[in-house]
Amino acid sequence: MTNNNRSQWDLGRFIQTLTYFEVIPFLNWVQDLIQGRPSSSKNIPDGAKQVGVILVAGATGGVGKRVVKRLLEQGYKVRALVRDIDKARSILNDDVELVVADITKSETLTSLIMANVQAVICCTAVRVQPVEGDTPERAKYYQGIKFYQPEIVGDTPENVEYQGVKNLVEAAAKYLPKVGQKLLFDFTKPSTELKNTWGAVDDVVMGGVSQSQIQFVEETALFAGHVSTANSGGFASVRTKNFAPPFNLSGYEGVELRLRGDGKRYKFLLRTETQWDGVAYSYSFNTEANTWIDVRIPFADLIPVFRAKTLKDSPPIDASKICSFQLMLSKFEYDGELNPKFSPGGFALQVESMKAYGGANLPQFILVSSAGVTRPGRPGINLDEEPPAVKLNDQLGGILTWKLKGEDSLRESGISYTIIRPCALTEEAGGKEFILSKVIILEEKSVARMSLGSV
Ligand SMILES: NC(=O)c1ccc[n+]([C@@H]2O[C@H](COP(=O)([O-])OP(=O)(O)OC[C@H]3O[C@@H](n4cnc5c(N)ncnc54)[C@H](OP(=O)(O)O)[C@@H]3O)[C@@H](O)[C@H]2O)c1
Repeated sequence: MTNNNRSQWDLGRFIQTLTYFEVIPFLNWVQDLIQGRPSSSKNIPDGAKQVGVILVAGATGGVGKRVVKRLLEQGYKVRALVRDIDKARSILNDDVELVVADITKSETLTSLIMANVQAVICCTAVRVQPVEGDTPERAKYYQGIKFYQPEIVGDTPENVEYQGVKNLVEAAAKYLPKVGQKLLFDFTKPSTELKNTWGAVDDVVMGGVSQSQIQFVEETALFAGHVSTANSGGFASVRTKNFAPPFNLSGYEGVELRLRGDGKRYKFLLRTETQWDGVAYSYSFNTEANTWIDVRIPFADLIPVFRAKTLKDSPPIDASKICSFQLMLSKFEYDGELNPKFSPGGFALQVESMKAYGGANLPQFILVSSAGVTRPGRPGINLDEEPPAVKLNDQLGGILTWKLKGEDSLRESGISYTIIRPCALTEEAGGKEFILSKVIILEEKSVARMSLGSV
């Protein structure tokens, strides 16, 4: 400590900060500071689809493997729920995360399998195969589709189509985010990628001596440290690296933080430019000491700032390109005003999650069921005129009846869902009308419910 409130500035920490945020190699840092260009493209987190996983059950099956392929092509992060990992490795792309579970055994559907899951697509099915000895010559045709005399092998339709689906629905109901929300950062189960995304940016970058860090403890991100006003400083913060591509949160109203603070007043900042020291969009919020609260930050209430100066002519935030997030404790509010709750010294803010809220009611559970599930047992039905699946329902262990019960478990779950009831699927283009039915919007619960297909 020197006199006149001058303290020993820490060059090592300054370099460490710039290195973490990829502003150096040191010789290039001035250029990178000016241009906001990261010095290397590796280690840049992907904000587009990497946060929030789509879980595909039955990913090794005919429908499932095609669903996985399409999702990957569209840039989604996919987790495949499989029974046999070696089989899955031989069928699925390396980019797919594999988790082993059996939907008929609820104890295998653990929190690890459901962590960060944004939506579930269920393509599981009991195994149906041609009866032994059936040959291509004996294949039958129905509406141009070739089929063999089928039989169930392995587990029963009751176990897979009903109990299994019900188990998966119940696990999903426990872990899926609320309708209209998107989990951005789940600090309860931080991945290595997430841990490597956040880092401290303190006033050391401006000559100050405040020190903070982010630690992942007690299923939270703990932003804590010591803030000092020495050397004209007075802020500590944690910030993400720039995401590329950025987060597109244009369909949402804002960001919700679940946090426990210390009674101090903090700032939450978003950036839409990759510049290290450029325009940010800021929102100040109070915390209650040692109390968990949800803080909602509407995009409309964010104030454009450069450092702590408000920018009167800046447009409102463009939520379609958010490239970094920051939490800050600062001596200053805006334009020279002081933070009314500021005091130098130790501080601690624990964050459990950051979510986007106010989004559209998209389905979160898609169940691939089957055409004809409501037909078996329907009064007045003439089985001879029915398609094979309906005709053979009893012979196939009541497969359609149990599928309908599986659907019911989803309808009763409160999850926002889509049920697809396909006829026999082929690789050829359909050429038939797509039938959409039973669209019920339950306004008071904000749950969009729909089921697709022919009934
Ligand atoms: N394919 C069609 O033409 C057609 C037509 C109408 C409706 N559908 C419906 O579409 C859905 C998918 O059919 P598909 O033809 O893709 O079936 P599939 O090829 O037989 O695939 C079934 C998938 O479910 C998995 N599975 C079975 N039991 C499981 C369990 N207990 N736990 C976890 N996974 C399990 C299988 O895993 P393993 O690899 O480990 O066996 C496999 O990945 C079904 O609901 C079916 O009724 C299909």
